[in-house]
Amino acid sequence: MKFTYYGHACFAVDVAGKKLLFDPFITPNPLARDVDVKEIPADFILVSHGHGDHVADVVAIAKRTGATVIAPFEVGDWFEKKGVNNVQAMNHGGAAATAFGRVKLTAAIHSSSMPDGSYGGNPAGFVIESSDGNFYYSGDTALTLDMKLIAEQTRLSFAVLPIGDFFTMGIHDALRAADLLGVTRIVGVHYDTFPPIKLDREAARRTAQSAGKELFLPAIGTSIDV
Ligand code: NI
Ligand code: MN
Repeated sequence: MKFTYYGHACFAVDVAGKKLLFDPFITPNPLARDVDVKEIPADFILVSHGHGDHVADVVAIAKRTGATVIAPFEVGDWFEKKGVNNVQAMNHGGAAATAFGRVKLTAAIHSSSMPDGSYGGNPAGFVIESSDGNFYYSGDTALTLDMKLIAEQTRLSFAVLPIGDFFTMGIHDALRAADLLGVTRIVGVHYDTFPPIKLDREAARRTAQSAGKELFLPAIGTSIDV
């Protein structure tokens, strides 16, 4: 699957001919200033929770592309009130058939409030199952034993996990998460954007390698095959 990184926890994956964009936060991110938000394609926008560093560009991209926004219930509701037409507001444990395959919302240990302070429900992650393969994006979360349940149901090709520490898992817990998930390939996100989550990339790569895992850290604006 083609994976494109847009900085922080924003990325796109091409799945079964559809463009899935996750947690768009580009305009406020100085590290992503070379990314043209007006050029980003999306058929679906998946939003893990209500925090500003995950929702900043959702409304603009959804209105421009007509993409369907898939999000936890209260987050989806908030986007509807902002004038987004196609919203699929789901909740944890629920799955749905879509044009790209199956999407399921998973639990995440974090918090969720909207940028205007309104209630954002509980934060989520996503399991995507498709004819191209399956993957998991945890969203912002702590390490949780619940991840083991995902591996029991779905054979994952890779996982997209936060590795920046401080607000989410750091690299050590992300590697333990990979063990629970039964994956050896991890794409790291949610690092470098803010001072507390600065990452020593080489150290992180070495740590992953010694744990028998492959850690992908694509440069912002570039694509890799995962
Ligand atoms: Ni967050
Ligand atoms: Mn975040």
